[in-house]
Amino acid sequence: MRILGIETSCDETAAAVYDVGAGLLSNVIASQAEHIPFGGVVPEMASRAHTERIVPVIRHALAEARVALDDIAAIAVTVGPGLVGSLLVGVSAAKGLAFARRLPLVPVHHVEAHIFANRVERPDLAAPFVALVVSGGHTQLIWVPEWGTYRVLGTTRDDAVGEAYDKVAKLLRIGYPGGPLIERLARAADASYVRFPKAFIKGDPYAFSFSGLKTAVLLQVETMSPNEVEEHRADIAASFQRAAVGALVQTSMRAVRRMRARRLVLAGGVASNSVLRSEIDAACGRVGVEVYQPAPILCTDNAAMVACAGAFWHERGRRAGWDLNPDPRLPLSSAA
Ligand code: KG4
Ligand code: ZN
Repeated sequence: MRILGIETSCDETAAAVYDVGAGLLSNVIASQAEHIPFGGVVPEMASRAHTERIVPVIRHALAEARVALDDIAAIAVTVGPGLVGSLLVGVSAAKGLAFARRLPLVPVHHVEAHIFANRVERPDLAAPFVALVVSGGHTQLIWVPEWGTYRVLGTTRDDAVGEAYDKVAKLLRIGYPGGPLIERLARAADASYVRFPKAFIKGDPYAFSFSGLKTAVLLQVETMSPNEVEEHRADIAASFQRAAVGALVQTSMRAVRRMRARRLVLAGGVASNSVLRSEIDAACGRVGVEVYQPAPILCTDNAAMVACAGAFWHERGRRAGWDLNPDPRLPLSSAA
């Protein structure tokens, strides 16, 4: 049983073929470099770039998997949340292909797909677990009592952590996207150069807040001369990263304790960060909790995770009609 997955919720045009028995057969991701000069995703440009690339990317995914459309059993596509003009390109392509080939069309939630990225490499990964989903658009702790059932324990009150990485990189003139650039720059730097506050929310032990941390970085930079900022750019970036990762780790461990979870699962673009990965590993190791984290290429947006979630829902009979439309604010359904 082979599923073609399509993902276009933000600025990656992606298609993948996942075989329920054999695993991942292809995983093609076209990232849009056109946003780099703007320091963030420009929605209209993203939508146009998806339109140009979606057909070649799907062709490439089929060719790399050495399969024809005739070998595909169903088409899975991200329907939300995300940028509506971006989502629309993937949904339209999926609908067109499914209609032409009389294939079932399986709608997939983007955050759920990020969690399923863990199952691409570990099909045996069993619930229950706590999932920490950290990306440019989401920062959530989710209780997963069984695959397909979700209870959001906590979320960010303002910026997502990836968004904070991107904004701090912009204000330190490090470049875009900020996450991987800050990680690289911070490697040989002094993370205790500035003690930034780890923001916690009073009365909500599982919530996050990152806009205060971003402002703290801005205020710090304003107290320094341009030369000092130049000299200590990497130290400030490393100090920011320490505070951001510290908040993620502490809050996740609190959720793990509350749910008496034996497993913690990482997901989303920021989960490719090696500092977060090793600190979560260490914290979980101390209390005997198992950690799962996808390969970095499966953390950032990709269609392998969409095809894998699609395979799960296809088996359980989830189908969309030809009236399927993207939903930029689609909630994570089936609360536990
Ligand atoms: O999951 P993703 O590709 O897209 C969304 O669904 O948002 O996540 C992208 C976000 C960006 O904010 C990017 O800066 C961040 O993930 N990111 C990282 C790293 N790689 C990507 N943040 C920290 N460290 C990284 N290595
Ligand atoms: Zn994503």
